[in-house]
Formats: sequence, C-alpha cells, structure tokens
Amino acid sequence: MTGGPGKAGLLVEGAAGIATLAGGVRRGSSQGEVATLESGTGSLALACWDGRILAVGQSDDVHCQISAAGYPVEGFAQLDAAGGFITPGLIDAHTHLVFAGTREAEWQMRAGGAGYLEVLAAGGGILATVAATRAASDEQLLTGARRRLAAMLANGTTTIEAKSGYALDTAGELRLLELTRQLGSEGPVQVVPTFLGAHAVPAEYRSRHDGTAAYVSSVIEEQLPAVARQRIAQFCDVFCERGVFDEHQSRRILLAARELGLAIRLHADELEPSGGAELAAEIGCCSADHLAAPSDAGIEAMARAAGAGTPVVATLLPATSWFLGKHHFAPARRLIDAGIPVALATDLNPGTSPTLSLPLVMSIACLELGLTPAETLAAVTINAAHSLGLGGRIGSIEPGKQADLVLWDVPTLEQIPYWLGGAPVRTVIKRGLKVFERAR
Ligand code: NIG
Ligand code: FE
Repeated sequence: MTGGPGKAGLLVEGAAGIATLAGGVRRGSSQGEVATLESGTGSLALACWDGRILAVGQSDDVHCQISAAGYPVEGFAQLDAAGGFITPGLIDAHTHLVFAGTREAEWQMRAGGAGYLEVLAAGGGILATVAATRAASDEQLLTGARRRLAAMLANGTTTIEAKSGYALDTAGELRLLELTRQLGSEGPVQVVPTFLGAHAVPAEYRSRHDGTAAYVSSVIEEQLPAVARQRIAQFCDVFCERGVFDEHQSRRILLAARELGLAIRLHADELEPSGGAELAAEIGCCSADHLAAPSDAGIEAMARAAGAGTPVVATLLPATSWFLGKHHFAPARRLIDAGIPVALATDLNPGTSPTLSLPLVMSIACLELGLTPAETLAAVTINAAHSLGLGGRIGSIEPGKQADLVLWDVPTLEQIPYWLGGAPVRTVIKRGLKVFERAR
C-alpha cells in the first residue's frame, strides 16, 4: 500500500479545516459535533502510513510525532490541500447498486397520481427491475454498477452497502451477491453486501392464493441457507411495509438470518406506520431505514434501545421521499431529540432514488429534515459506519483507522451541502491511496 510512487506514507498539508469525527457514534446533542480542527494561526497536517491514519493535528505536532516514531520523512508523498476542507470518506449505508434498466416512465406515472405500491401491485415498480435484471448478463450488470460506483466515488463516497433484491430466486440472488463481491474486490470503493431476497413477492408467486406466505418460506428455507453457506452477504434486509412483507413475516426472516450468522437491518415505515421501527428495536437491528412514517410507539422503542446502549441507527433516505413526491419526510429532529443516532444514505435505486450523490442527500436533509450541515456530516460518516458494524475501522480520522479521506474544493463544512448538486470534491483517498482527482 503506497501513498505515492514507491512511498508507504502520505502527508496532507495546507487544509483550512479537518472534521475528524473522532469520538464514536453521534446521538442526541452530539449528532452535530464533528470535532473540527481549524488552521487558525498555524497550519494543519494529516499523515497516513500503510493505508492507515498515523497522526492528525497542528503541522508541527504531526511532524514531531512522525520523526519520534521513526518514520522516514522521505517515505511520505506530499499532497497540498490548498485551503480546502477535509472530511472522512463518505459512507453510503443503503444502496441497491446492482440492477438493470431504468424506470422514468413509472416516475412520470407517479407524477400523474399513481401510487408507488399500486404500480408494484400491477407488476411494475420493483418487479419491472427484477425482469430487466434477470434478463441482463453478468457483464451488463457489472458495467452499469461500475459506472455508478465511479460516479459515487467522484462525489466523495469511499464505502457503500449494496443490497441484492432484484432477482428474487435462489440462483439469481446468489448471482447478484457474487457480482457485488466482485465489484468490491475490484475497488477502490469498499462494498458491504446485503441479502434482500424479501424485497417483493416475485411474479411467479403472485397468482397463488398463498403467494406471499409461500415466498417467505422459500426465502427462509432455500435462499437464506444458500446465502449463508456461501458466506456471500454480511447483512439480511427485508422491505417491511403494509402490502409487502408484514411485521410478522419480517421478524421470521430476520431471526432466521441471524441464526445463520448474518447481521440484520430493515426497510422500515417508508410509506406508512407498519411496525418496522418497533420490530427493529425489539430484535436489535443494526439499522432501521427510511422511517418516513414511524409510529410514536416505534420512535419510543428505538429511543429505549438507544438509552439502553443498544442503539438501532435510524438511516434516513430523504432523496427517496423527495423523488416519490411525498410532502412529508422522516421526523429527523424528533429522532435526534429522542437520542437515536441518525445516518443518511442515498437509497440509490432505479425506482425511488436514482441519485449517486451523498452531498445532494446532505443538502436535502438540511432543507427538508431541518438538519444542520454538521449533523448531516456525522450522518454520512461515523454514524453510517456504525450502522454497518464498521465504526471501529472507518467513519472518522483517528490514528489507526483506515485512511479514507475526502479533500473538498471548499474551505468550510457548511459549503459541502450548500452547493446544491455541486459536489465540490477535489481529491479522494482510499486506504491511503489517491483514487480520484477532479479534472481542473
Ligand atoms: O428503498 N422500498 C423498497 N426498496 C427501494 C425501492 C426499490 C425500487 O423501487 O426498485 C427503496 O425505496
Ligand atoms: Fe431501499
């Protein structure tokens, strides 16, 4: 691992500020504490060695630490931050990365009044993407996903979670997870795979009177054991929503997944209160996602879990509410005030959120969820890392952690979401390596 040709180290100097996010998961009043170092009168430096953060702080201190520890000065490649702001690499903890086809016609039908679940019930929506994905070759799926990963990287994203869920049969779901594994191994974006066989009931089960129950059994008895045997997913997820998979079916699937060694998360209360937040708290999901319409009891259950030291991260997806044309968004302030850690993600998918930009999601969260820029930054770094069980390795700039960094073309944290859709990324570093540089 090198920071430049023949160098194991990387030394970044000249930043206007560095939001380190040091100090663990953020919740309640700490949601907006991003632990910023400012250049002030001196200057800042950040040193990496062998893919990890070595030291961060005032330049003189960092130089002293480097030489006191015996690292050779000539072993460091130099990077001039030229007055830009530095954050940890962004983490997108909810994406549907691998799919074929687009659904702009359905988007326009919704603009004309059609409901998201009505379109699904009529065989469109998720099922349209399932048909296109089943028909696509591995190479077609990889090409589309690689293009999307490159755009995400250019927007500052260095780690994503990626769900299956557009095949809905054992062989097809394994294929999507295998392609996901391959994409992660190609890098530079790190990919955490999630099995989402319970994304919708596929067409071949819909004509049966017991279609949903029979499909749930096939997920539990066939798909999950095959996924676990191949050790090809870290998480299992379920689309828990009235009219899709109910709370009881979701509980059975997630508990079976946990028995088989997978960690669990879920799509909860996206469209209406469906018992998702309550379930996530009851069974200890790492994350409950969407939460655009949680019940009071659900918020209280998540608050109790957080208070007891077993928080379920609330991963909010405001680009989805926006693109669905909803006029109500997740009650982010209430969740924060209740002490629940809040993360933000794109929900990248061809139906409800065709965006590759976490900075855009941060902007929407400021405008529609009422978060501050600092709260949104914690949401796409340290809290997103915790929702993926990676809080000890990524999500903050602290000695020993993976050197995943974004050097922004703006001097303040506030300007990141301020430039609406502008994504002012200059350089992205993954594991100490420069992996993206914006053409000037
Ligand atoms: O999180 N709601 C379920 N899954 C996705 C949408 C997937 C799709 O419409 O293709 C979501 O919004
Ligand atoms: Fe989703």
